[in-house]
Amino acid sequence: MWSDTIVTTQAIVVHESGGPQVLKYEEITVPEPGPGQVLVRNHAVGLNFLDVYLRSGRYPAKVPFIPGHEGAGVVERVGIGVEDFSVGDRVGYIDPMGSYAGLVTRSVDRLVKLPDGIEVKDAAGLLLKGMTAEYLLRRTYRVMAGQTILVHAAAGGVGQILCQWAKHLGATVIGTVGSAAKRQIAENVGCDHVIINGQEDFVATVHDITAGHGVPVVYDGVGGEGFMKSLDCLAPRGTMVAFGAAAGPIPPLDVQELGPKGSLYVTRPMLGPYVATTEDLNASAQALFDVVLDGHVKVEVANTYRLAEAAQAHADLELRKLAGSTILVP
Ligand SMILES: NC(=O)c1ccc[n+]([C@@H]2O[C@H](COP(=O)([O-])OP(=O)(O)OC[C@H]3O[C@@H](n4cnc5c(N)ncnc54)[C@H](OP(=O)(O)O)[C@@H]3O)[C@@H](O)[C@H]2O)c1
Repeated sequence: MWSDTIVTTQAIVVHESGGPQVLKYEEITVPEPGPGQVLVRNHAVGLNFLDVYLRSGRYPAKVPFIPGHEGAGVVERVGIGVEDFSVGDRVGYIDPMGSYAGLVTRSVDRLVKLPDGIEVKDAAGLLLKGMTAEYLLRRTYRVMAGQTILVHAAAGGVGQILCQWAKHLGATVIGTVGSAAKRQIAENVGCDHVIINGQEDFVATVHDITAGHGVPVVYDGVGGEGFMKSLDCLAPRGTMVAFGAAAGPIPPLDVQELGPKGSLYVTRPMLGPYVATTEDLNASAQALFDVVLDGHVKVEVANTYRLAEAAQAHADLELRKLAGSTILVP
């Protein structure tokens, strides 16, 4: 017999949208894994800017909710009909929302087994950001050897993986960062040129570096005012990949403007449709594990907080104090 609830754990719960203080550390009950599900004990939870959008109300979410889309841990119980996963397996996942907890119930079709060589805690800060880098570089726009590309927030969580992977693909990478303190970090992840926003006009510098040609693709997870400027960094028929808006919403765009700017392409991609099937999810994870295990992308977790300190972690992320990937440990 399956009971409705069998176990309690500590989690972060949002009862109303707002600042980091709305992240409350509470005890919750976790459902017994049903058919096709497993109970995962999280060893770490990944912090993502997406969590800020949902917590603050910039993206709608029905309250109360448990935030978080990324985590990794060990299978503790398996439900009926689960064959490919066993108690003790090391696993990671990127959806659905609700990872800010000590224990989570997950369907096995959204679960990824971690290969030897990938630490569980590293995986918690790697999977969502790394799969994002995978689809952006290989499927939204296919980066080729010899191209010069522009990556905004190069020292950020997704940014660091994007830059390393793009270098592995043979690209020359121009990265922007928000402060001089992040310059070295961007250089360490392979940026050939680093532009410090606010100190330099990135449009002019990109044209200097590319001898006036512009770049074939811009990866922009920052949005806000920089979006329109980024269009001016593109070569004719270039592709603007607006995959996030940490600095504020992407402004409305009159598509007529794309013609005179050079017949540009603009896309606003999201991870979900790129990993909608279990097959796509596993293929993306495998491509990511391959570049990590081959040493082309390094995945050290840069910042660690206790899960109970999630509010501090959110505040630090929003204040641009963090670089690289961040985990919360239950
Ligand atoms: N579409 C997708 O599939 C997808 C998936 C994952 C992530 N994302 C997006 O990718 C972006 C990066 O995500 P992440 O989790 O790795 O975060 P992150 O890059 O670690 O943090 C965001 C970075 O944005 C920069 N930034 C510029 N202006 C900012 C402002 N006003 N407030 C805060 N940050 C500002 C900061 O870097 P500097 O200080 O160096 O400027 C900051 O470190 C986010 O926009 C996220 O939503 C999209």
